[in-house]
Formats: sequence, structure tokens, C-alpha cells
Amino acid sequence: MESNTQKLIHSFGALADLGQEIADSGDFMEMVRTSLHLLLGTLAIRRGAILECPEHLETTNCLATWGLSDDYGVKFPIDSETKETILSSTGVEGGPATTEAKDGPLHQALAGLYSQEIELIVPMIVRGKLTGLVALGGKASGEPFTQDDLEVVRAMVRHIGVGIHTHRLLAEVRQQAIENGRLYFDLRAIYRDTVRAFAAAIDIKDKYTQGHSDRVGKYSEIIAREMGWGEEEVEGMAIAGYLHDVGKLVVERDIINAPYKIDAKQSSELNRHPRAGYDILLPIHHPFADIPLMAKYHHERMDGRGYPDGLTDTQIPIGAKVVTLADSFDAMTTDRPYKTRRSFAEVIHDLRRNTGTQFDPVVVCAFCRALLKELNGETRERKFLKMLGKNYLEAERDKPLIIELLSELDPNTKAAAAGAD
Ligand SMILES: [Fe+2]
Repeated sequence: MESNTQKLIHSFGALADLGQEIADSGDFMEMVRTSLHLLLGTLAIRRGAILECPEHLETTNCLATWGLSDDYGVKFPIDSETKETILSSTGVEGGPATTEAKDGPLHQALAGLYSQEIELIVPMIVRGKLTGLVALGGKASGEPFTQDDLEVVRAMVRHIGVGIHTHRLLAEVRQQAIENGRLYFDLRAIYRDTVRAFAAAIDIKDKYTQGHSDRVGKYSEIIAREMGWGEEEVEGMAIAGYLHDVGKLVVERDIINAPYKIDAKQSSELNRHPRAGYDILLPIHHPFADIPLMAKYHHERMDGRGYPDGLTDTQIPIGAKVVTLADSFDAMTTDRPYKTRRSFAEVIHDLRRNTGTQFDPVVVCAFCRALLKELNGETRERKFLKMLGKNYLEAERDKPLIIELLSELDPNTKAAAAGAD
């Protein structure tokens, strides 16, 4: 009686250890190996193996062996019919609690796994599915398995089965998360490519400003990144730059392409484009920042003399202010039908004159810092150089101009800017 009680306590202890091992282990294979050792140790069994039956495969996969060759049960054929036979012959979760006669359906289905060394094969069934199999040799004492032994085996196999099942679920969830991440990344890339193609279509309408929208997108991205915004906002600003002039699609081509300074009537027609852009972009669900508002307000000015709404400083979204600067910088640094592009010194002069009235000083400072970093060779890519062409910027000549403007606009950056020289 005392011996039975001790055995029971021992079995409960082993079960508790097994539960702990399954719950704690971050290493799946280690968990399976330890579980097998605990099972064998509890009943003093010399040898055994844990096999996995992946749902999508028709063979078993050996996860752990003890006292058997490592290839025991590897790729043992177990097709869906065999799985059905095993499931219908066990009927209860955790597998049979008795050793089955050799002519029984379970024994026959798994005949290839039986040998002199294997006395008992217990299916692991979790949620009505065959998760795996546990093969066990005889007890070291040579005694047959008792009914109590089989109950202990069944309980422990069930624990192991749940552990393997949970691991599979987690692996699937992880795989799904990776897959979703990939899909999301692909979708964003497709969205961005589509927007860039659309931007190219906008620019085709204006034969004098080829690539303008693409460059405004890139300048906006550079400024946003320099302002320390997160990746989402930075990407949103690139999109806003690409699409800022989408409203020009509704403006007559002759006005856009006029090779002279347009008159007041034509000008007011052209000035419809920010609001038209807003109307075009509003129904689209954009994954990033408020793109339609940035298109609407990219011609607003800090002093309230912009259009379409004559907003002032804090009324203008910061993103729209970024696009405004990017747009103006590109307009100043590219040839137009009625004027050639300005020199860099003239551009700096224009920025100095219009900061605080047209441009936000915070945005101008960020722009200058980004440009200075590239001229100092601190950036991996030379984005300004690519957009402005080889001979436009000259580091030694232009860096002092940028540093001077930065110092005027933000005295706090004076030391840092000087240090960057
Ligand atoms: Fe515009």
C-alpha cells in the first residue's frame, strides 16, 4: 500500500516537473528531450522515442530518442488513412490506456515501428488530431506494464502532446506574422511606386518641370527625416511631395505650359490646383499622414498672403510647410521657360528674405542642416547632388553660406553648425 502511495506521489511529482518543463522551455527540442527523459525515468523504462506527425506530411519525424538509434521512426509512412485508423482506434485524447493485442488496428497500422525493443506505442492526440507518437520499450525490471503504469504514461503523453501542439501553433503564428509583415511591406512598396508613377503622370502634363513632383517628394522626405520624425511620417511626407500638384490635372495644359509669365486670369485658374488636389485626394484612404491637407496648403504662407485660404503660421500644418519649402527650392533650382535657375547664393538669399513670411524657420533650418550634412560627407547617399546635378553645389563655397543662414535663423545651432564645418 505504502509502495503504491509512493509511486503515486512520484508520478504526480514527475507530472508537475513535466508541466513546468513544457511551460518554461524556450528551446522546443530541449523540452521534448527532457520530457522523454522524465517519462522514461518515472517508470524506469530503458528506451523510447517521441515522434512528431506533422499535419501536412505523410511521414513521421523523430524529435527525441533514448536507447534507440537516432533514425528510429524517421520518415515512417503515416498517410491520412493511417492517421484516421489511429484516431478511430483510440477514441480518447491521450491515446489508449492499455497495450493492444497484436492483431488490433492500432498495432497493425504502426507495425513498422514495433520491434523487440518497443513494447508500447501511444498516440498523442490533441484537439482530435494526431500530433505524434510516443514509443516505449519495456521496463528495466522486466515486469509488464500495470494498469497504473499505463495511466501515468497516458497522462504524461498527453502533457507532451499539448506542449508539441502549442509549439506548432506558436510557430504558425510567428510564420503568419512574418508573412503579414512581408505582405504589408510589399503593399507599401506598391503604394509608393503607384504614387510615384502618378506623380510622373502629373509632371508629364507640364513639359518644363519634368521630375518636379518626384524631387519635391524626395526633398520633403529629407527635411522630415532631418526634423527627427518617425519612419511613418517621413514616408508620408514623401508621398505628400509626390502628390502635392495632383490638382494640376484639372488645369488647362496651355496655362501650365505657357512659355511666358501668365496673366491674372490664367493665374487664378492655375491657383485652383491646391484645392482641386485636395478634392482628388480626399476620398482616397492614405496609410500615412494627412496627405490631402498638405496638397491643399502647399501654397499657404506664414504671413497669411498665400492661397487658397490665406492661413497664417500655426494654422498651416507643419507637413504643408515642409512641402512648401521643397516645392519652392525645386522651382528656384530648375530652369523654367521664362527664367534660368538661380545660383545657390541667390537661393540662400531668397530663403533668408522669405523665412518667417513665406517659409517656417524650423523647416528652413532642418533643410539647411540636411544639406550641410551632405556637403560635409556625413551622409551615405548624395541625394542633393543627384537632384541638383554635378556642377551646381560646391562644398567649400556653399557651406559658409548655409552655416551663416543657420546661425541667423537659430542662434542655438551656431556652435553645432560651426563645428560641422
Ligand atoms: Fe503647386
